[in-house]
Amino acid sequence: MSTKIPVGVLGATGAVGQKFIKLLENHPWFEVTEVAASERTSGKPYGDAVSWKQVTPVPNDVRKLEVRPCTPDLKCRVVFSGLDAAVAGQIEEDFAKAGYVVLSNSKNHRLDEDVPLVIPEVNHEHLGLIPIQCRNRKSKGYIVTNANCTTMFLAMALGPIHKAFTIEKVFMVSMQAVSGAGYPGVPSLDILGNVIPFIGGEEEKVEIETRKILGTFNGKTIDLADFPVSAQCNRVPVEDGHTESVAVKLAKRTSAQEIAELLKNFSGVPQQLRLPSAPEEPFIVMEAPDRPQPRFDVNRANGMATLVGRIRPCTIFDYKFTLMGHNTVRGAAGASILNAELLKAQGMLE
Ligand SMILES: NC(=O)c1ccc[n+]([C@@H]2O[C@H](COP(=O)([O-])OP(=O)(O)OC[C@H]3O[C@@H](n4cnc5c(N)ncnc54)[C@H](OP(=O)(O)O)[C@@H]3O)[C@@H](O)[C@H]2O)c1
Repeated sequence: MSTKIPVGVLGATGAVGQKFIKLLENHPWFEVTEVAASERTSGKPYGDAVSWKQVTPVPNDVRKLEVRPCTPDLKCRVVFSGLDAAVAGQIEEDFAKAGYVVLSNSKNHRLDEDVPLVIPEVNHEHLGLIPIQCRNRKSKGYIVTNANCTTMFLAMALGPIHKAFTIEKVFMVSMQAVSGAGYPGVPSLDILGNVIPFIGGEEEKVEIETRKILGTFNGKTIDLADFPVSAQCNRVPVEDGHTESVAVKLAKRTSAQEIAELLKNFSGVPQQLRLPSAPEEPFIVMEAPDRPQPRFDVNRANGMATLVGRIRPCTIFDYKFTLMGHNTVRGAAGASILNAELLKAQGMLE
């Protein structure tokens, strides 16, 4: 008999769903016992239903599982959601109402007043919203969300910087990988040898989610961080790894060296608790002037770290730098799994 916690994956056949299956293979605490998706695939064995795009094979135990419809009658208490945003809102609510712990990747509930939007290294205390959510919604289950894949690396890096030097404003330009659009995603003829300077809804998400994550839990809700964020998002012909050029204005004086040291030496709650998916170094600060680069660096720290480079003074703001991270790992499934590990470590999955 396995002593691991049985978990389900909603949207298990999609890009993020597959990453959940891959990252949960051999997980020390969790075991995938249920997979669920749309009526297009439900009823089939997972191995037949999925168009598997990972570089390792479908795990044997999961291959045989029957894909179930996304109805709250799965035999597990914890579900990870990689559902299409068109359906995630209602399905995730139904599961939470029925008593499940839902770890969601979708945009639908990230900004709900009583739903935590968590990066464990930055704002673990926002989990204090959970009892409030259960009370408000009269349910035993609850929803915890992780950030949009671009917001993730920005908010993660800004967390320690804001705490130390108080951010006054942020400007960010992203170069986002095609895997961020799911599968089949962007048509090849649109993106090959091209840059698309528009990703619907993305800039708005980055601008507001960053302020919620860096906001303050006041015992009832989150007071948004009090600085503006301006984002410009582009799709580029890169397979995995979102790159971000960031400029920040700070209230306190510092130096590029001090910002680099702050990030290099940073250790957060996941590192202190030694959570299984926590990167040993949450920030990998690269010295070479032409790094990080997605092709070479995206899989550092198993895709769970934020890579930082080119920290230097800015002639308009105070400092500017480059960030990069794995959009379907730390930017999606890996972030949800780390959140679940934090909940388990804090006794909130009982
Ligand atoms: N890709 C990324 O880097 C990334 C990063 C962060 C967040 N996200 C978010 O994560 C979510 C999933 O993204 P994705 O890229 O994995 O999308 P995707 O590849 O299109 O997968 C969508 C999943 O949702 C399922 N689904 C669709 N309609 C359904 C329905 N009516 N009922 C039940 N299941 C249904 C699909 O099942 P079938 O196979 O049966 O159709 C599939 O498993 C989205 O909300 C996205 O915004 C994505």
